[in-house]
Amino acid sequence: MSPNRFLASFDARDAYHQFTDILIIGAGIAGIRAALEIPADLRVLVLNKDRLDESNSTYAQGGIAGVLSPQDRFENHIDDTHVAGAGLCDPKVVEMVIREAPQQINDLIRFGVKFDLEQGELALTREGGHSHRRIVHALGDATGHEVMRAIIERARKTPNITLRGETFILDLLTHEGRCVGAMVWREGVGVSLIWARQVILASGGCGMVYRETTNPPVATGDGMAAAWRAGAELCDMEFMQFHPTVLYVAGSARSLISEAVRGEGAYLRDVNGERFMLAEDPRHELAPRDVVSQAIFRCMERTQHPNVYLDLSHLDPARVAERFPGISKVCRSFGLDIAKDKIPVRPGAHYMVGGLTVDLQGRTTVPGLWAAGEVTSSGLHGANRLASNSLIEGLVYGTLCARGAASEACRLPGELHALPLSYRMSTLDSGESLDVTDLTNSLRSLMVRNMGIVRDHRRMLEAKRDVEFWCRYVLPREFSTRAGWELQNLLTVARLMIDAALARQESRGTHFRSDFPTRDDAHWLRHMVSAGMRTA
Ligand code: SIN
Repeated sequence: MSPNRFLASFDARDAYHQFTDILIIGAGIAGIRAALEIPADLRVLVLNKDRLDESNSTYAQGGIAGVLSPQDRFENHIDDTHVAGAGLCDPKVVEMVIREAPQQINDLIRFGVKFDLEQGELALTREGGHSHRRIVHALGDATGHEVMRAIIERARKTPNITLRGETFILDLLTHEGRCVGAMVWREGVGVSLIWARQVILASGGCGMVYRETTNPPVATGDGMAAAWRAGAELCDMEFMQFHPTVLYVAGSARSLISEAVRGEGAYLRDVNGERFMLAEDPRHELAPRDVVSQAIFRCMERTQHPNVYLDLSHLDPARVAERFPGISKVCRSFGLDIAKDKIPVRPGAHYMVGGLTVDLQGRTTVPGLWAAGEVTSSGLHGANRLASNSLIEGLVYGTLCARGAASEACRLPGELHALPLSYRMSTLDSGESLDVTDLTNSLRSLMVRNMGIVRDHRRMLEAKRDVEFWCRYVLPREFSTRAGWELQNLLTVARLMIDAALARQESRGTHFRSDFPTRDDAHWLRHMVSAGMRTA
């Protein structure tokens, strides 16, 4: 049975309606930056599924990459991005984003972001894959908190912007092939329809499809799944980036230990105390993430130990405390002093490189729908994202989408009005009888086991069989809870990821296959396109 076009039945004749010029879905860095760029004479509505400050952007630790030092050059940052991206970055996109980065960082300062300073200048750190110090950070290791605090505050003070949290986006509304708004759900209100001249999707990634992830629980791929149901094309869904160092202590909810820790000189050691990265890559602990994560995986297999360790004991303890106050606090709550004790870590799902296909302005393949940030596959990251290149992508594409959407919105004449759309689920089965938590946990464990850092045909085929089996009885149901809809979205995204990963018969970037362990440019120097759902 094919999946339903919408997650819920509706009829515009008896729905609650709202109208706005620009609808922005997602209040992370890309969504808020977009809102701030829309001209004052257009009404903007920004929706977030949870509290306004609950997004992956808020949890960003490391920082934002940009060429700001006289010792650095745009060409270096461009080269580093291409090397990390393993041949699949789009050169035009890389050039544009990297040259735009310093201006975007200055705009953030203008919006009130207080980056860390050293002797009155922006303090710059390094992370894996960067040839130079070029990453600005804030509050030591809480860059995302500071950036989001400042830009949300700015958006709150901007009269044409309305910010609304706790609003779940069920689906995008389309009419004659154009995106015309969204169907949303709010506790106490139920389903309502929002009509917009243009829609910008900035709903983030899908790390929750894995049991071990640095992502907050909101990252369930809702935007990717909704856009796919609306017919949008997605691209490169096989590339899930695994962050090498996620705290591995029972009860720690898999906290990220920033790559900046290695940027400041921390070592990775195996259970026997060996610095195993010395033998793995000339860049040692500062190799790109795919290289380090795969090396850790092999090390854990070799030593038959479930984790490796980060060692900061040779660094100045005062500097460690000042640079990493948040990480120190989290580790202290587990009795670990990061200046002395080795920190147990292992890789975890961190960033979805694939996503909606967008052009150089942020247009998706569905007219009226724009997209920015982790929900997209812009071409900046290729097959593996360079550390701290994601917030900058969100800023640049948020700005571009806003400009493009605003100019399109001005071209559409007349008042907005509701269209006579309706949808009745093909089956009226409710999800009530299903144990959604059990199914979600089963999916997340399956993805770790069979679609993790090291993949092969047999395990991916097994994952495909299980996911398709679950899809058959989960997708046709009409749930009435956020957990149910999130499960449907996670399954939809997992299926796209598995299909793309099975198809790519080589190893490249974040996608490593033990049955095809080498990069094969002759056959696979190309993108894997996932066509959107065919709508009637
Ligand atoms: C980190 O702090 O290691 C995360 C930065 C990123 O994902 O770019």
